[in-house]
Amino acid sequence: MTLDRTLLNEARDALRAADRVAVLTGAGVSAESNIPTFRDAQTGMWARFDPRQLASPEGFAEAPDRVWNWYRWRRELVASSRPNAGHDALATLQRSRPGVTLITQNVDGFHQQAGARDVLELHGSLQRTVCSVTRRVIDQDWLDEHADAEPPPSPHHPDGLARPDVVWFGEALPAAVIDAALDAAARCDLILVAGTSGEVHPAASLPFIARDHGARVIDVNPEATAISRMADWHLAGPSARWLPALICSA
Ligand code: APR
Repeated sequence: MTLDRTLLNEARDALRAADRVAVLTGAGVSAESNIPTFRDAQTGMWARFDPRQLASPEGFAEAPDRVWNWYRWRRELVASSRPNAGHDALATLQRSRPGVTLITQNVDGFHQQAGARDVLELHGSLQRTVCSVTRRVIDQDWLDEHADAEPPPSPHHPDGLARPDVVWFGEALPAAVIDAALDAAARCDLILVAGTSGEVHPAASLPFIARDHGARVIDVNPEATAISRMADWHLAGPSARWLPALICSA
């Protein structure tokens, strides 16, 4: 896909000129790491389930083994893959200057693997497992000792089960994380959005909050979305290609 060079240069200049930058990413930034988006991931044996059966408290109560195995499958997929050039570019951006806050809806941990720090994970992380009752983290040794159970019991509560530390349908986002993300959006001079459909709130509101506080908006997405339509610059292409082009000389 070719990209309008003038658009790219303008966006690059705006990024360079901004003191405070917020970055918001979604499933699209991991597409080129071969991690399907949540809905696309429902292929093969998972296709017959509704997303709520796999990712909601009700689905977990109904069939904890099914939910546990679905997340195990997703964890293994991530473990067999790597961050891509888009993740690398964002980590470079953060390393190269102060004032860059990285906010993600992804649970794959690729931003951190690429070297990003203090990532605000709005929807949690596949890498952490918690007690379904207390939400305390369960350590890996315990999980290894109880690996035959699907899911393992919780060491923290007699009625608890191990579950992924991800935000399910109907659950609240971690308050401290969303507060920090809202703050970053309200205070930034520019928000760089990549790989999100902008359909899941409150994450999808962040670019609009930033714009309403005077920030410029860059969106990187091969498709048009509500965010790309209001953005100052829509770089219509894949993020593993256009984030490096945008950032590497910013
Ligand atoms: N580069 C950039 N963007 C891409 C690429 C790519 N290579 N490939 C696809 N996209 C875009 C799509 O055009 C789409 O707009 O990524 C977006 C993915 O949209 P969603 O699947 O809705 O992902 P996201 O916006 O992260 O969804 C938010 O919804 O499924 C839940 O909890 C899950 O965190 C997720 C949330």
